[in-house]
Amino acid sequence: MSLSISNDSLLPGRNYIDGAWVDAADGTTFPVSDPATDAVFTQVPNSGAEDAKRAVDAAQKAFASWRKVPAKQRAAIIKRWNDLIVAHTEDLGKLISREQGKPLAEGKGEVLYAASYVEWFAEEATRTNGEIIPAPVPGRRMYALREPVGVIAAVTPWNFPAAMIARKIAPALAAGCTVVCKPAEDTPLTSLALVKLAEQAGVPAGVLNIVTASRENTPAVVDVWLDDARVRKITFTGSTPVGKHLARRSADTLKKLSLELGGNAPFIVFDDADLDAAVEGLMISKFRNGGQTCVCPNRVYVQAGVHDAFVEKLAARVGALVVGPATSASSQIGPMINARAVEKIERHVRNAVENGAKVVVGGTRVQSEQCTSANYFAPTVLIHATPSMDCSCEETFGPVVPVTRFETEADVIAQANATPFGLAAYFYSTDVRRIWRLADALESGIVGVNEGALAAEAAPFGGVKDSGYGREGSTHGLEEYMHIKYVCQGQLD
Ligand code: SIN
Repeated sequence: MSLSISNDSLLPGRNYIDGAWVDAADGTTFPVSDPATDAVFTQVPNSGAEDAKRAVDAAQKAFASWRKVPAKQRAAIIKRWNDLIVAHTEDLGKLISREQGKPLAEGKGEVLYAASYVEWFAEEATRTNGEIIPAPVPGRRMYALREPVGVIAAVTPWNFPAAMIARKIAPALAAGCTVVCKPAEDTPLTSLALVKLAEQAGVPAGVLNIVTASRENTPAVVDVWLDDARVRKITFTGSTPVGKHLARRSADTLKKLSLELGGNAPFIVFDDADLDAAVEGLMISKFRNGGQTCVCPNRVYVQAGVHDAFVEKLAARVGALVVGPATSASSQIGPMINARAVEKIERHVRNAVENGAKVVVGGTRVQSEQCTSANYFAPTVLIHATPSMDCSCEETFGPVVPVTRFETEADVIAQANATPFGLAAYFYSTDVRRIWRLADALESGIVGVNEGALAAEAAPFGGVKDSGYGREGSTHGLEEYMHIKYVCQGQLD
């Protein structure tokens, strides 16, 4: 199966600043490689400070007019963007699979997932109503308006190259903000293709700007945006250390922030759970994108009465997963994004085994006729996981399921919450009282109850504690790009 795309115009291979496709100011580029083979297949601009500043200049200039475009007109443009994304599902899916590695069915699924946010925010653009406030004295009118915050800097991750762009940029445009964006260095092509479609949809020059940069050049680009007071908000999905750095460095210009950071999701199975549903939910949530998802379960707790039966069912399902490149239609788990990612997974498994865990299935890299790069890791189930193991403390971001046996509800709640992170948590139970107790007790921005697939465009996505703050999706996701202006008019009597 080929991942070549049919519409070459989706591969501009350049930055987009002020409505023009341009090279980096110094003309340099960096390579983009296919994680399935490690082969370099194209080059994109290696932008620096000058490109970053030009992008802000353009976005600031465009803000003056974009904010005044009637919401209905902005909505129509964003809706056209959605329609174009959907119309290019096949090509965009292939691009995602090529640069990110996920199987093609997942790549195409991500395109539709991304589009669902674009469509949602197109519709929400027309509903940014204000409030009339009853005045406490005669002769006054008091009202609160919602206004766009200004220029937004969006710094996006590699694991969902389309969806994360969509759920940051669509609400920004809907609110009347303008955008400068830097996609992850591993996956710049999908983002450039989405911006190309936004241009075709009629997003005016300067409203949406994108610059690509290597890992080494990224600080030079982002530092310009952090220091520039014209950038009024940063939206970032990525690691907690980088999120904290952005929060510290943006303090001088007091930017608004949305930080969707690391997770360490617990997945709890109680004795009273429907075991088949729990196994199914875990397969869906854990192995999405090969385990490279912030909301993937990272620690699995199974109550003693069902532990062995659950592990047996789970191991059978995990052992049957097909690992391979996106060019093979049968692949269910693609390569990990790069060598660093596989090294971390390997370290977690090694550390667990050295500290008493047992590998039930998997546990090693996969090399075969199809899996030719060193980036493939076998879907793995470990038992006897303990709280001090690396895989319990850090996000593995790979296809590894460490299982811990527990005895009581109080004990598992304490273990689930014993982490600085709080993005997602899952549990399976059929006891309605326990369901309410757990939903209250888990320290997490998102809770899945008897459900493994949680994200949806109409739902607020985001974390607590070290998993960050701010919400994406839903009406809350639009609020993040607006501020409230209170207007008080007197002398009316
Ligand atoms: C993420 O991993 O950052 C996003 C996952 C999702 O949208 O479900």
